[in-house]
This record gives sequence, C-alpha cells and structure tokens, in this order.
Amino acid sequence: MNDYLTLIKLSANHRIKSFDCGNDDLNEFLFQDAIEHSKQLLAITYLYEGQDYTKAYFSVLNDSIRIQDVKSKNRFKKIVLQYIPLRKRGYRSYPAVKVGRFAVNKDFHNKKVGTEIMDYIKVFFINKNKTGCRFIIVDAYRDAVGFYRKNGFNFLTEENETEDTRLMYFDLKLVGSSEQVAIN
Ligand SMILES: CC(C)(COP(=O)(O)OP(=O)(O)OC[C@H]1O[C@@H](n2cnc3c(N)ncnc32)[C@H](O)[C@@H]1OP(=O)(O)O)[C@@H](O)C(=O)NCCC(=O)NCCS
Repeated sequence: MNDYLTLIKLSANHRIKSFDCGNDDLNEFLFQDAIEHSKQLLAITYLYEGQDYTKAYFSVLNDSIRIQDVKSKNRFKKIVLQYIPLRKRGYRSYPAVKVGRFAVNKDFHNKKVGTEIMDYIKVFFINKNKTGCRFIIVDAYRDAVGFYRKNGFNFLTEENETEDTRLMYFDLKLVGSSEQVAIN
C-alpha cells in the first residue's frame, strides 16, 4: 500500500518549499514552528514534496487515550471491552500516535492526497513503528471532520459547539478489515 509515496522527514536545514493549505495557523506552523518542534522532539514533521512546492505535510507525536476521559456510552469503550482481550489487566490508557498537524496544499484538495497520506500513516504505525501503538488520534478541525470520518475515524468526545476541534480516533487493528469505514 502506497509504496510510491515518498515522504521526507523534516530536518533542521531543510528549505521548505512553497505551501498554502488555506489555513493560516497550519501554514504558519510549517514555516515557523515545525523545525523547532522536531529539534525539541515534541513533534516530528513529514513533507510530501513536488518539484518546487510542498504538496502536503503532517506532524506526529506520541500520545494515549485515557479510559477515564471517555464517556461510558462512547463506542471506543465497546472496542476496548469487546476486542482487546488483555483488558482484564485493567489498563487505564491505550497507546496512540497523535496527528498534531495535517494539511494538503489547496491546489491539491479533493484529489485524494489527504487519504493517500492517511493510509501511509496507518500502515507506517503498524509496520514500522518500534513501540506499541493501537490508535491514531487527532483534534479535528470542524471543517475537516468529514474528511476524517471518510477515513474511518470516530469521535472520542461529545459535540461541543464552543470548541473549534473534536477529538477523533482510528483503531489500527481495523486496517485491512472490512470494518475500516467509519461506524456510527
Ligand atoms: C482536510 C484535508 C486534509 C483533506 O485532504 P484532501 O486531500 O482534500 O482530502 P481527500 O481528497 O483525500 O478526501 C477524501 C474524502 O473526504 C472528503 N473530504 C475532504 N475534505 C473534506 C472536508 N473538509 N469536509 C468533508 N469532507 C471532506 C472528500 O470529499 C472525499 O470524499 P469521497 O471519498 O466521498 O470522495 C485538506 O482539505 C486540508 O488540508 N484542509 C486544510 C487544512 C485542514 O483543515 N487540516 C485538517 C486539520 S485537523
């Protein structure tokens, strides 16, 4: 899956090529903050580049889903109760990778670039990751929730109109299974 997608890990001396995803905060993060976050080991950024432009980027960091933060009727609890046999050990949290930033150049929106990269992230954290990581989580911008739903993510938190983002998760055990689509 996605063997042809070549991503570059952002390094301190990399010259970042032009990029505009339509969101000022995400543009600014790439040009002003991404390298320092990498240097400080707070979030690692990967770039998908064309010849003289950046096609997309994302930043990832370690995180977890804490059981106490999830409401009892949330579907996540069902997954933990039904599909994780080691639950009896009483784990209070489950390992996750957080997609801290995720953005596609606006010239390439709605061409499946975001989906292609999300597929790459899913496979990467199953096959290449050297630590346990069961879930991907993201604080999804309201405008982007539809994209994450299309990519199999579900909600961890309840709808709150005062918040700009909504915490969502994807279960990496679903990759390759017929349940990969979002389930209400
Ligand atoms: C959100 C974003 C990453 C999506 O990337 P993309 O490459 O345009 O998305 P894709 O072409 O892979 O879309 C996949 C599916 O999601 C849908 N989709 C994409 N963006 C959507 C949105 N904002 N709202 C609802 N659905 C969306 C597409 O219509 C497509 O549906 P389909 O499979 O039925 O055709 C991109 O629009 C972007 O960078 N936006 C600005 C930055 C941003 O909001 N980032 C997210 C931060 S949490």
